[in-house]
Amino acid sequence: MSVEPMHITDKERVIVIDFGGQYNQLVARRVRECNVYCEIYSYKTDIAQIKAMKPKGIILTGGPNSCYEENAPTYAKELFEMGIPVLGLCYGAQLMMLLLGGKVEKAPVREYGKTEVLLDSSSALFSNVAPTTICWMSHTDYISKVAPDFKIIAHTADCPVAAAECRDKDLYAIQFHPEVLHTQEGTKMLYNFVRNICGCAGTWKMDSFVKTSIAQIREKVGNGKVLCALSGGVDSSVAAVLMAKAIGAQLTCVFVDHGLLRKNEGDEVEEVFGVNGTYQLNFIRVNAQERFYKKLSGVTEPEQKRKIIGEEFIRVFEEEAKKIGVVDFLVQGTIYPDVVESGLGGESAVIKSHHNVGGLPDCVDFKEIIEPLRDLFKDEVRKAGLELGIPDKLVFRQPFPGPGLGIRIIGEVTAEKVQIVQDADAIYREEIAKAGVDRSIGQYFAALTNMRSVGVMGDERTYDYAVALRAVNTVDFMTAECAEVPWEVLQTVMSRIINEVQGVNRVFYDLTSKPPGTIEFE
Ligand code: XMP
Repeated sequence: MSVEPMHITDKERVIVIDFGGQYNQLVARRVRECNVYCEIYSYKTDIAQIKAMKPKGIILTGGPNSCYEENAPTYAKELFEMGIPVLGLCYGAQLMMLLLGGKVEKAPVREYGKTEVLLDSSSALFSNVAPTTICWMSHTDYISKVAPDFKIIAHTADCPVAAAECRDKDLYAIQFHPEVLHTQEGTKMLYNFVRNICGCAGTWKMDSFVKTSIAQIREKVGNGKVLCALSGGVDSSVAAVLMAKAIGAQLTCVFVDHGLLRKNEGDEVEEVFGVNGTYQLNFIRVNAQERFYKKLSGVTEPEQKRKIIGEEFIRVFEEEAKKIGVVDFLVQGTIYPDVVESGLGGESAVIKSHHNVGGLPDCVDFKEIIEPLRDLFKDEVRKAGLELGIPDKLVFRQPFPGPGLGIRIIGEVTAEKVQIVQDADAIYREEIAKAGVDRSIGQYFAALTNMRSVGVMGDERTYDYAVALRAVNTVDFMTAECAEVPWEVLQTVMSRIINEVQGVNRVFYDLTSKPPGTIEFE
């Protein structure tokens, strides 16, 4: 069984070499916003491999180390002699200087945060950038002497070398982070590098991605049979529709309703993808609610709940797949951050403990996996979704965990509790949308605490559950801050939940950021 992914073959690419910086994915995303395809590789990647990809440009990321220390991440000096433009950012800039004969040492003044930078806008890197601009600094080391043939092109009050260039060789080093939005003109600088200095034409666009992918899928699949697990989430929906556009009736999509979806969600997914919907993708809905509730009965430990839900999902899917018989391909909605975070791309060693479709490949009889979105970031997946004509409502859905409401009900999951949290959550989402703040909050939902307390309603004593409302803003879902939902909206939601949802007499608003909290309650 081969699990070779399908790959985009785009000649024009920029390579990001990752030195463990926290903004590694951001660098690649920003480059892609300039319509240039870009991939991340660890600094451990052999230079021959990088060369073989014939990149039009190379970007070295930041990183947590001091480049002059023993065993600090480094790279073959030959990188700067290949005739390919290189841009070093922060650690990458310091490493470039050190390897080429400059000097890097601990800075007398550590710079952190938004900093005024004075720059030489005659440099190609700073074309159309104001001579004084705000940039994001985050460094304890600094370049105290530039390498021979380099010219200083930017400085700050505390940092004599905020940027340097060797124009003849197209080598550029910048101490700050153009990839973060706090650097006001950062995108312009990256644009100048990839489009003007590297000479990329900017052919990476979602309409061409969709067109090329459809052609590639057709060629690869031929007359083969394809199976897809459709959850109704953004990634699997876009993957399924892309496949459907390419191979139509050869595709079968299985949607498992595990009874832990949001209110009416199963029906909404069926409406779009089912027989009365717009797509031809042989939609099969499996109503497995009771099976899941039975398995979850009496279970309170969060990780055990996750495991049970994940395993049961695989069993249900397996049974359906058996009915279909042998298939040639299995579609997965893997996206680029999954690839990078599972250690296959960059330097990040984090392995997601929760992967929606983990385990599926082992239970289905198939020859090959197709991951049509493997090279896309989330925002690109959304753009591809719009390009494919998928309704906005689906394309801009907030993330929803694979185990669903199972991890938004603290303690044991029962059908009754699922209904309570579904109803409360539906009210919350409705009011948030009504107030027009739905697109500005990263993730928001209602959860059911396992706490019951005394209240009074209509002169009667109540002893009911407490619902917790959560709303967070986040860039990467690894850190998050409580979102400021307008007070009147919270008041309305509170009173509607207590009046309309049986079994609830108290509503809390969760103020916790992540860390120390997590976004979900379990
Ligand atoms: P936490 O709770 O870890 O959530 O701060 C971070 C993001 O991951 C989602 N999440 C999950 N997604 N299976 C998933 O598919 C899970 O078990 C799971 N747990 C958390 C969460 O919704 C948030 O977007």
